[in-house]
Amino acid sequence: MINIAVLGYGTIGSGVVEIVDRNQTILQKKTRQSVEVKYILDIREFPGTSIESKLVHDFQTIVNDPDVQVIVETMGGLEPAYTYAKESLLAGKAYVTSNKELVAKYGAKLLALAKSQNTNFLFEASVGGGIPVIHPLNRCLTGDEILEISGILNGTTNYILTQMTEEGWSFEDALKDAQEKGYAEFHPEADIEGHDARRKIAILGSLAVGRQIDFEDVYTEGITKITAADISYAEAMDCKIKLLGTYKNTKEGQYAMVAPKLVPLTQPLSGVSGVFNSIFVKGDMVGDVMFYGPGAGKLPTASAVIGDVVDAIKHLDRYIGTIWEEDKLVLQSLDSFEQKVFVRMKDSVDKSKVKEAFGDVEEITTQKVTGEYAFLTGVMKEKEMSAKLSAFPELISFIRMA
Ligand code: HSE
Repeated sequence: MINIAVLGYGTIGSGVVEIVDRNQTILQKKTRQSVEVKYILDIREFPGTSIESKLVHDFQTIVNDPDVQVIVETMGGLEPAYTYAKESLLAGKAYVTSNKELVAKYGAKLLALAKSQNTNFLFEASVGGGIPVIHPLNRCLTGDEILEISGILNGTTNYILTQMTEEGWSFEDALKDAQEKGYAEFHPEADIEGHDARRKIAILGSLAVGRQIDFEDVYTEGITKITAADISYAEAMDCKIKLLGTYKNTKEGQYAMVAPKLVPLTQPLSGVSGVFNSIFVKGDMVGDVMFYGPGAGKLPTASAVIGDVVDAIKHLDRYIGTIWEEDKLVLQSLDSFEQKVFVRMKDSVDKSKVKEAFGDVEEITTQKVTGEYAFLTGVMKEKEMSAKLSAFPELISFIRMA
């Protein structure tokens, strides 16, 4: 029999306990063992519930119990999760986590520790909720150099943008609904300011390149400045606005950014709606592959955790491994990143000056917005774009094209 412990009985932790209970027969078939949740660690009490007898408040009870082989952490945050991860691995126990803060910051360190202890540190649920993407990058796309990863990596912001586009909801109503459904982070700034997606693209990029991409180095913009007018212009351009995390591996080096982008309806990422996430990966041999599924939520995320638990059970005392090492990667400055840009200016702007600065631009109009001059530029470097835009006091806003 395999005993697991679950640290944190919140949305995902309770989902993990539920899956172990509901899919016990399947887990037994896949691991050839019966899998039991022996302990649940939480600071709260749950009197009169089915988990009462498993509840503990002291992590030492878990880490010192030789019968616990796999520890699952779904608490989030850096501490005490980092301390628990180190102590668990040092005790030779496999550690499975959905905690992207922990993985983005200490993933490479904890992988090295797991390797030295002949055990595993697994984190499929940290990116893309229920979508298998970490395993494919580590195990399947290993014959390729990864040239690009581009994805909708945050369910809450995708839900908000979808509701604003399809239902005409306000930003605030859509956020409140996402919080009620359990998608949003405890501090929703992490979602709407793009910090959650920033950690996720740093994790994916690090796994692709095999070096540490510090999430703090990833240029990041959230969706708080996106308005109903932007959404109308997007419609006029046959585009959807999506918060994209992008990693690009070029001859000059690697770029990474998170920003709202206009995604043409001809690109599959434009069709990813609601809480769904999707990750596009370009390999030098395989070409383009895409992963799609629920990016947040109790059972989808718990399903990814359980996948790792099964993997951990199948590889007790054998490190599975990734190429991600602690050596820091210095990202390329975005200055030379090339893209088209959609620009909104006050109608009072001198159009001949716009032409002088940006060349021939495509004017964009929508019946829903008046008093503006909006246009799409040709492909230009980020540095050139910023310099030119800053010369126009009439500038209202801009959005990059995917
Ligand atoms: N708040 C995150 C999201 C949860 O909305 O995607 C899953 O990481």
